[in-house]
Amino acid sequence: MDKIRITGGVPLKGTIPISGAKNAALPLMTAALLTDKPLLLSNMPRLADIVTMTKLLRQHGVEINQTDDAATFTLGEMPEGESHMRLQAENIHNLTAPYELVRTMRASVLVLGPLVARYGEAKVSLPGGCAIGTRPIDMHLKALEMMGATIELADGYVRASCKGRLKGAEIPFDKVSVGATENIMMAATLAEGTTVLTNAAREPEVCDLAECLVKMGAEIEGIGTHRLTIHGKDALHGAEHRVICDRIETGTYISAAAITRGEVELKGVDPRLLTAVIEKYEEAGVTFAETPDGMIVSGADHFKGVDAMTQPHPGFPTDMQAQFMALMSVADGASMITETIFENRFMHVPELIRMGANVNVQGRSAMVRGVPSLRGAEVMATDLRASSSLIIAALAAKGETLIHRVYHLDRGYEALEAKLTACGAQVERVA
Ligand code: EPZ
Repeated sequence: MDKIRITGGVPLKGTIPISGAKNAALPLMTAALLTDKPLLLSNMPRLADIVTMTKLLRQHGVEINQTDDAATFTLGEMPEGESHMRLQAENIHNLTAPYELVRTMRASVLVLGPLVARYGEAKVSLPGGCAIGTRPIDMHLKALEMMGATIELADGYVRASCKGRLKGAEIPFDKVSVGATENIMMAATLAEGTTVLTNAAREPEVCDLAECLVKMGAEIEGIGTHRLTIHGKDALHGAEHRVICDRIETGTYISAAAITRGEVELKGVDPRLLTAVIEKYEEAGVTFAETPDGMIVSGADHFKGVDAMTQPHPGFPTDMQAQFMALMSVADGASMITETIFENRFMHVPELIRMGANVNVQGRSAMVRGVPSLRGAEVMATDLRASSSLIIAALAAKGETLIHRVYHLDRGYEALEAKLTACGAQVERVA
């Protein structure tokens, strides 16, 4: 079980290349199931979750080639050049997504819509809960039923089947759901007739998937709005698509540069993808300067405690809540942080408290009272973004921090140690 040891107190100085977005790359990979032609994806991030999705799609029968095969790169090494992936779903021989893969990565459920739409059947293990909540897929299933699929639940699996093609339908989502929007948008591209999704998610990763589907021959209106209209086609064809940059990785390094009072250039970033994050961090005292392909982030001697509430895009992202809390834990004054998306996304709080933070959780809100500095400690990573908040805290803490269970980090951050040490941080992975 790898650990990461960090000695804090070094202001980060240098340049960090931002990778392709995990939460765009994962649904883009499942879109390959919608056609028997090749889908070429570039700017793919080298992450454990991409390896898992590759395993999942290969066991369905998707042929996948990567310029640098995901199995060979070393976690944590600085990547050389870009990673390209070619996927072709010409001979799908298995319509089941097995428990052992789905339980490690909830995004596996994104094969459901494409498989039912193209093959009329799919059997997917229920994702079960995970560290940040129960995270059901009820909205995915209800929408597929409205499109004519029959849904059966048995021995921990959901089986969706449909005689003939799915039918277009008017589908209002009770809550904004990234995964449900993506699953049903993909299914609708091959349905008979028109599907209208209202209260659809507008996250940049959803838009990136929609743009790729259009390149594959899908007809989608309202991309980037809460109302998506998809006119179904008999078939889609191949396409080439470049994965957008990872706005959450970007926000994570913004937090690291800020809390260490450093100055870091983030390259390959589109600042428009994270305006709510930039505004919130500017309010706290972080300064930004735009560059031709990204931004320069500068920390300050003192930060102001500011409140934050997570919202669906374009609001402040839930995936940035833990990272922001790490910065607020050393701000002057108090910050009320409210998590409205997931019911249990404060797993980082006990660990930050062990490092000296003063945080009081009441239901969905956490009151953070800034302290002059944090102290290094042994801490435990619990989920991907909670882990990154511990990294951020450790970079600023006095002394040494040892973070256990760093496999959570490898799921979503490419070459984390390499990118940080390149900016002077004292970070090392210990087996
Ligand atoms: C995606 O998860 C992201 N994952 C998450 O990022 C992100 O936190 C989340 O969207 C919100 O932005 C990927 O894109 C792979 P949701 P997803 O469906 O699609 C409830 C990370 O760190 N809900 O938008 O699973 C659900 O329980 C990960 O990269 C239902 O109730 O999230 C949650 O409370 C973590 N029924 C809320 O909606 C459903 O059928 C939002 O979930 C579906 C969702």
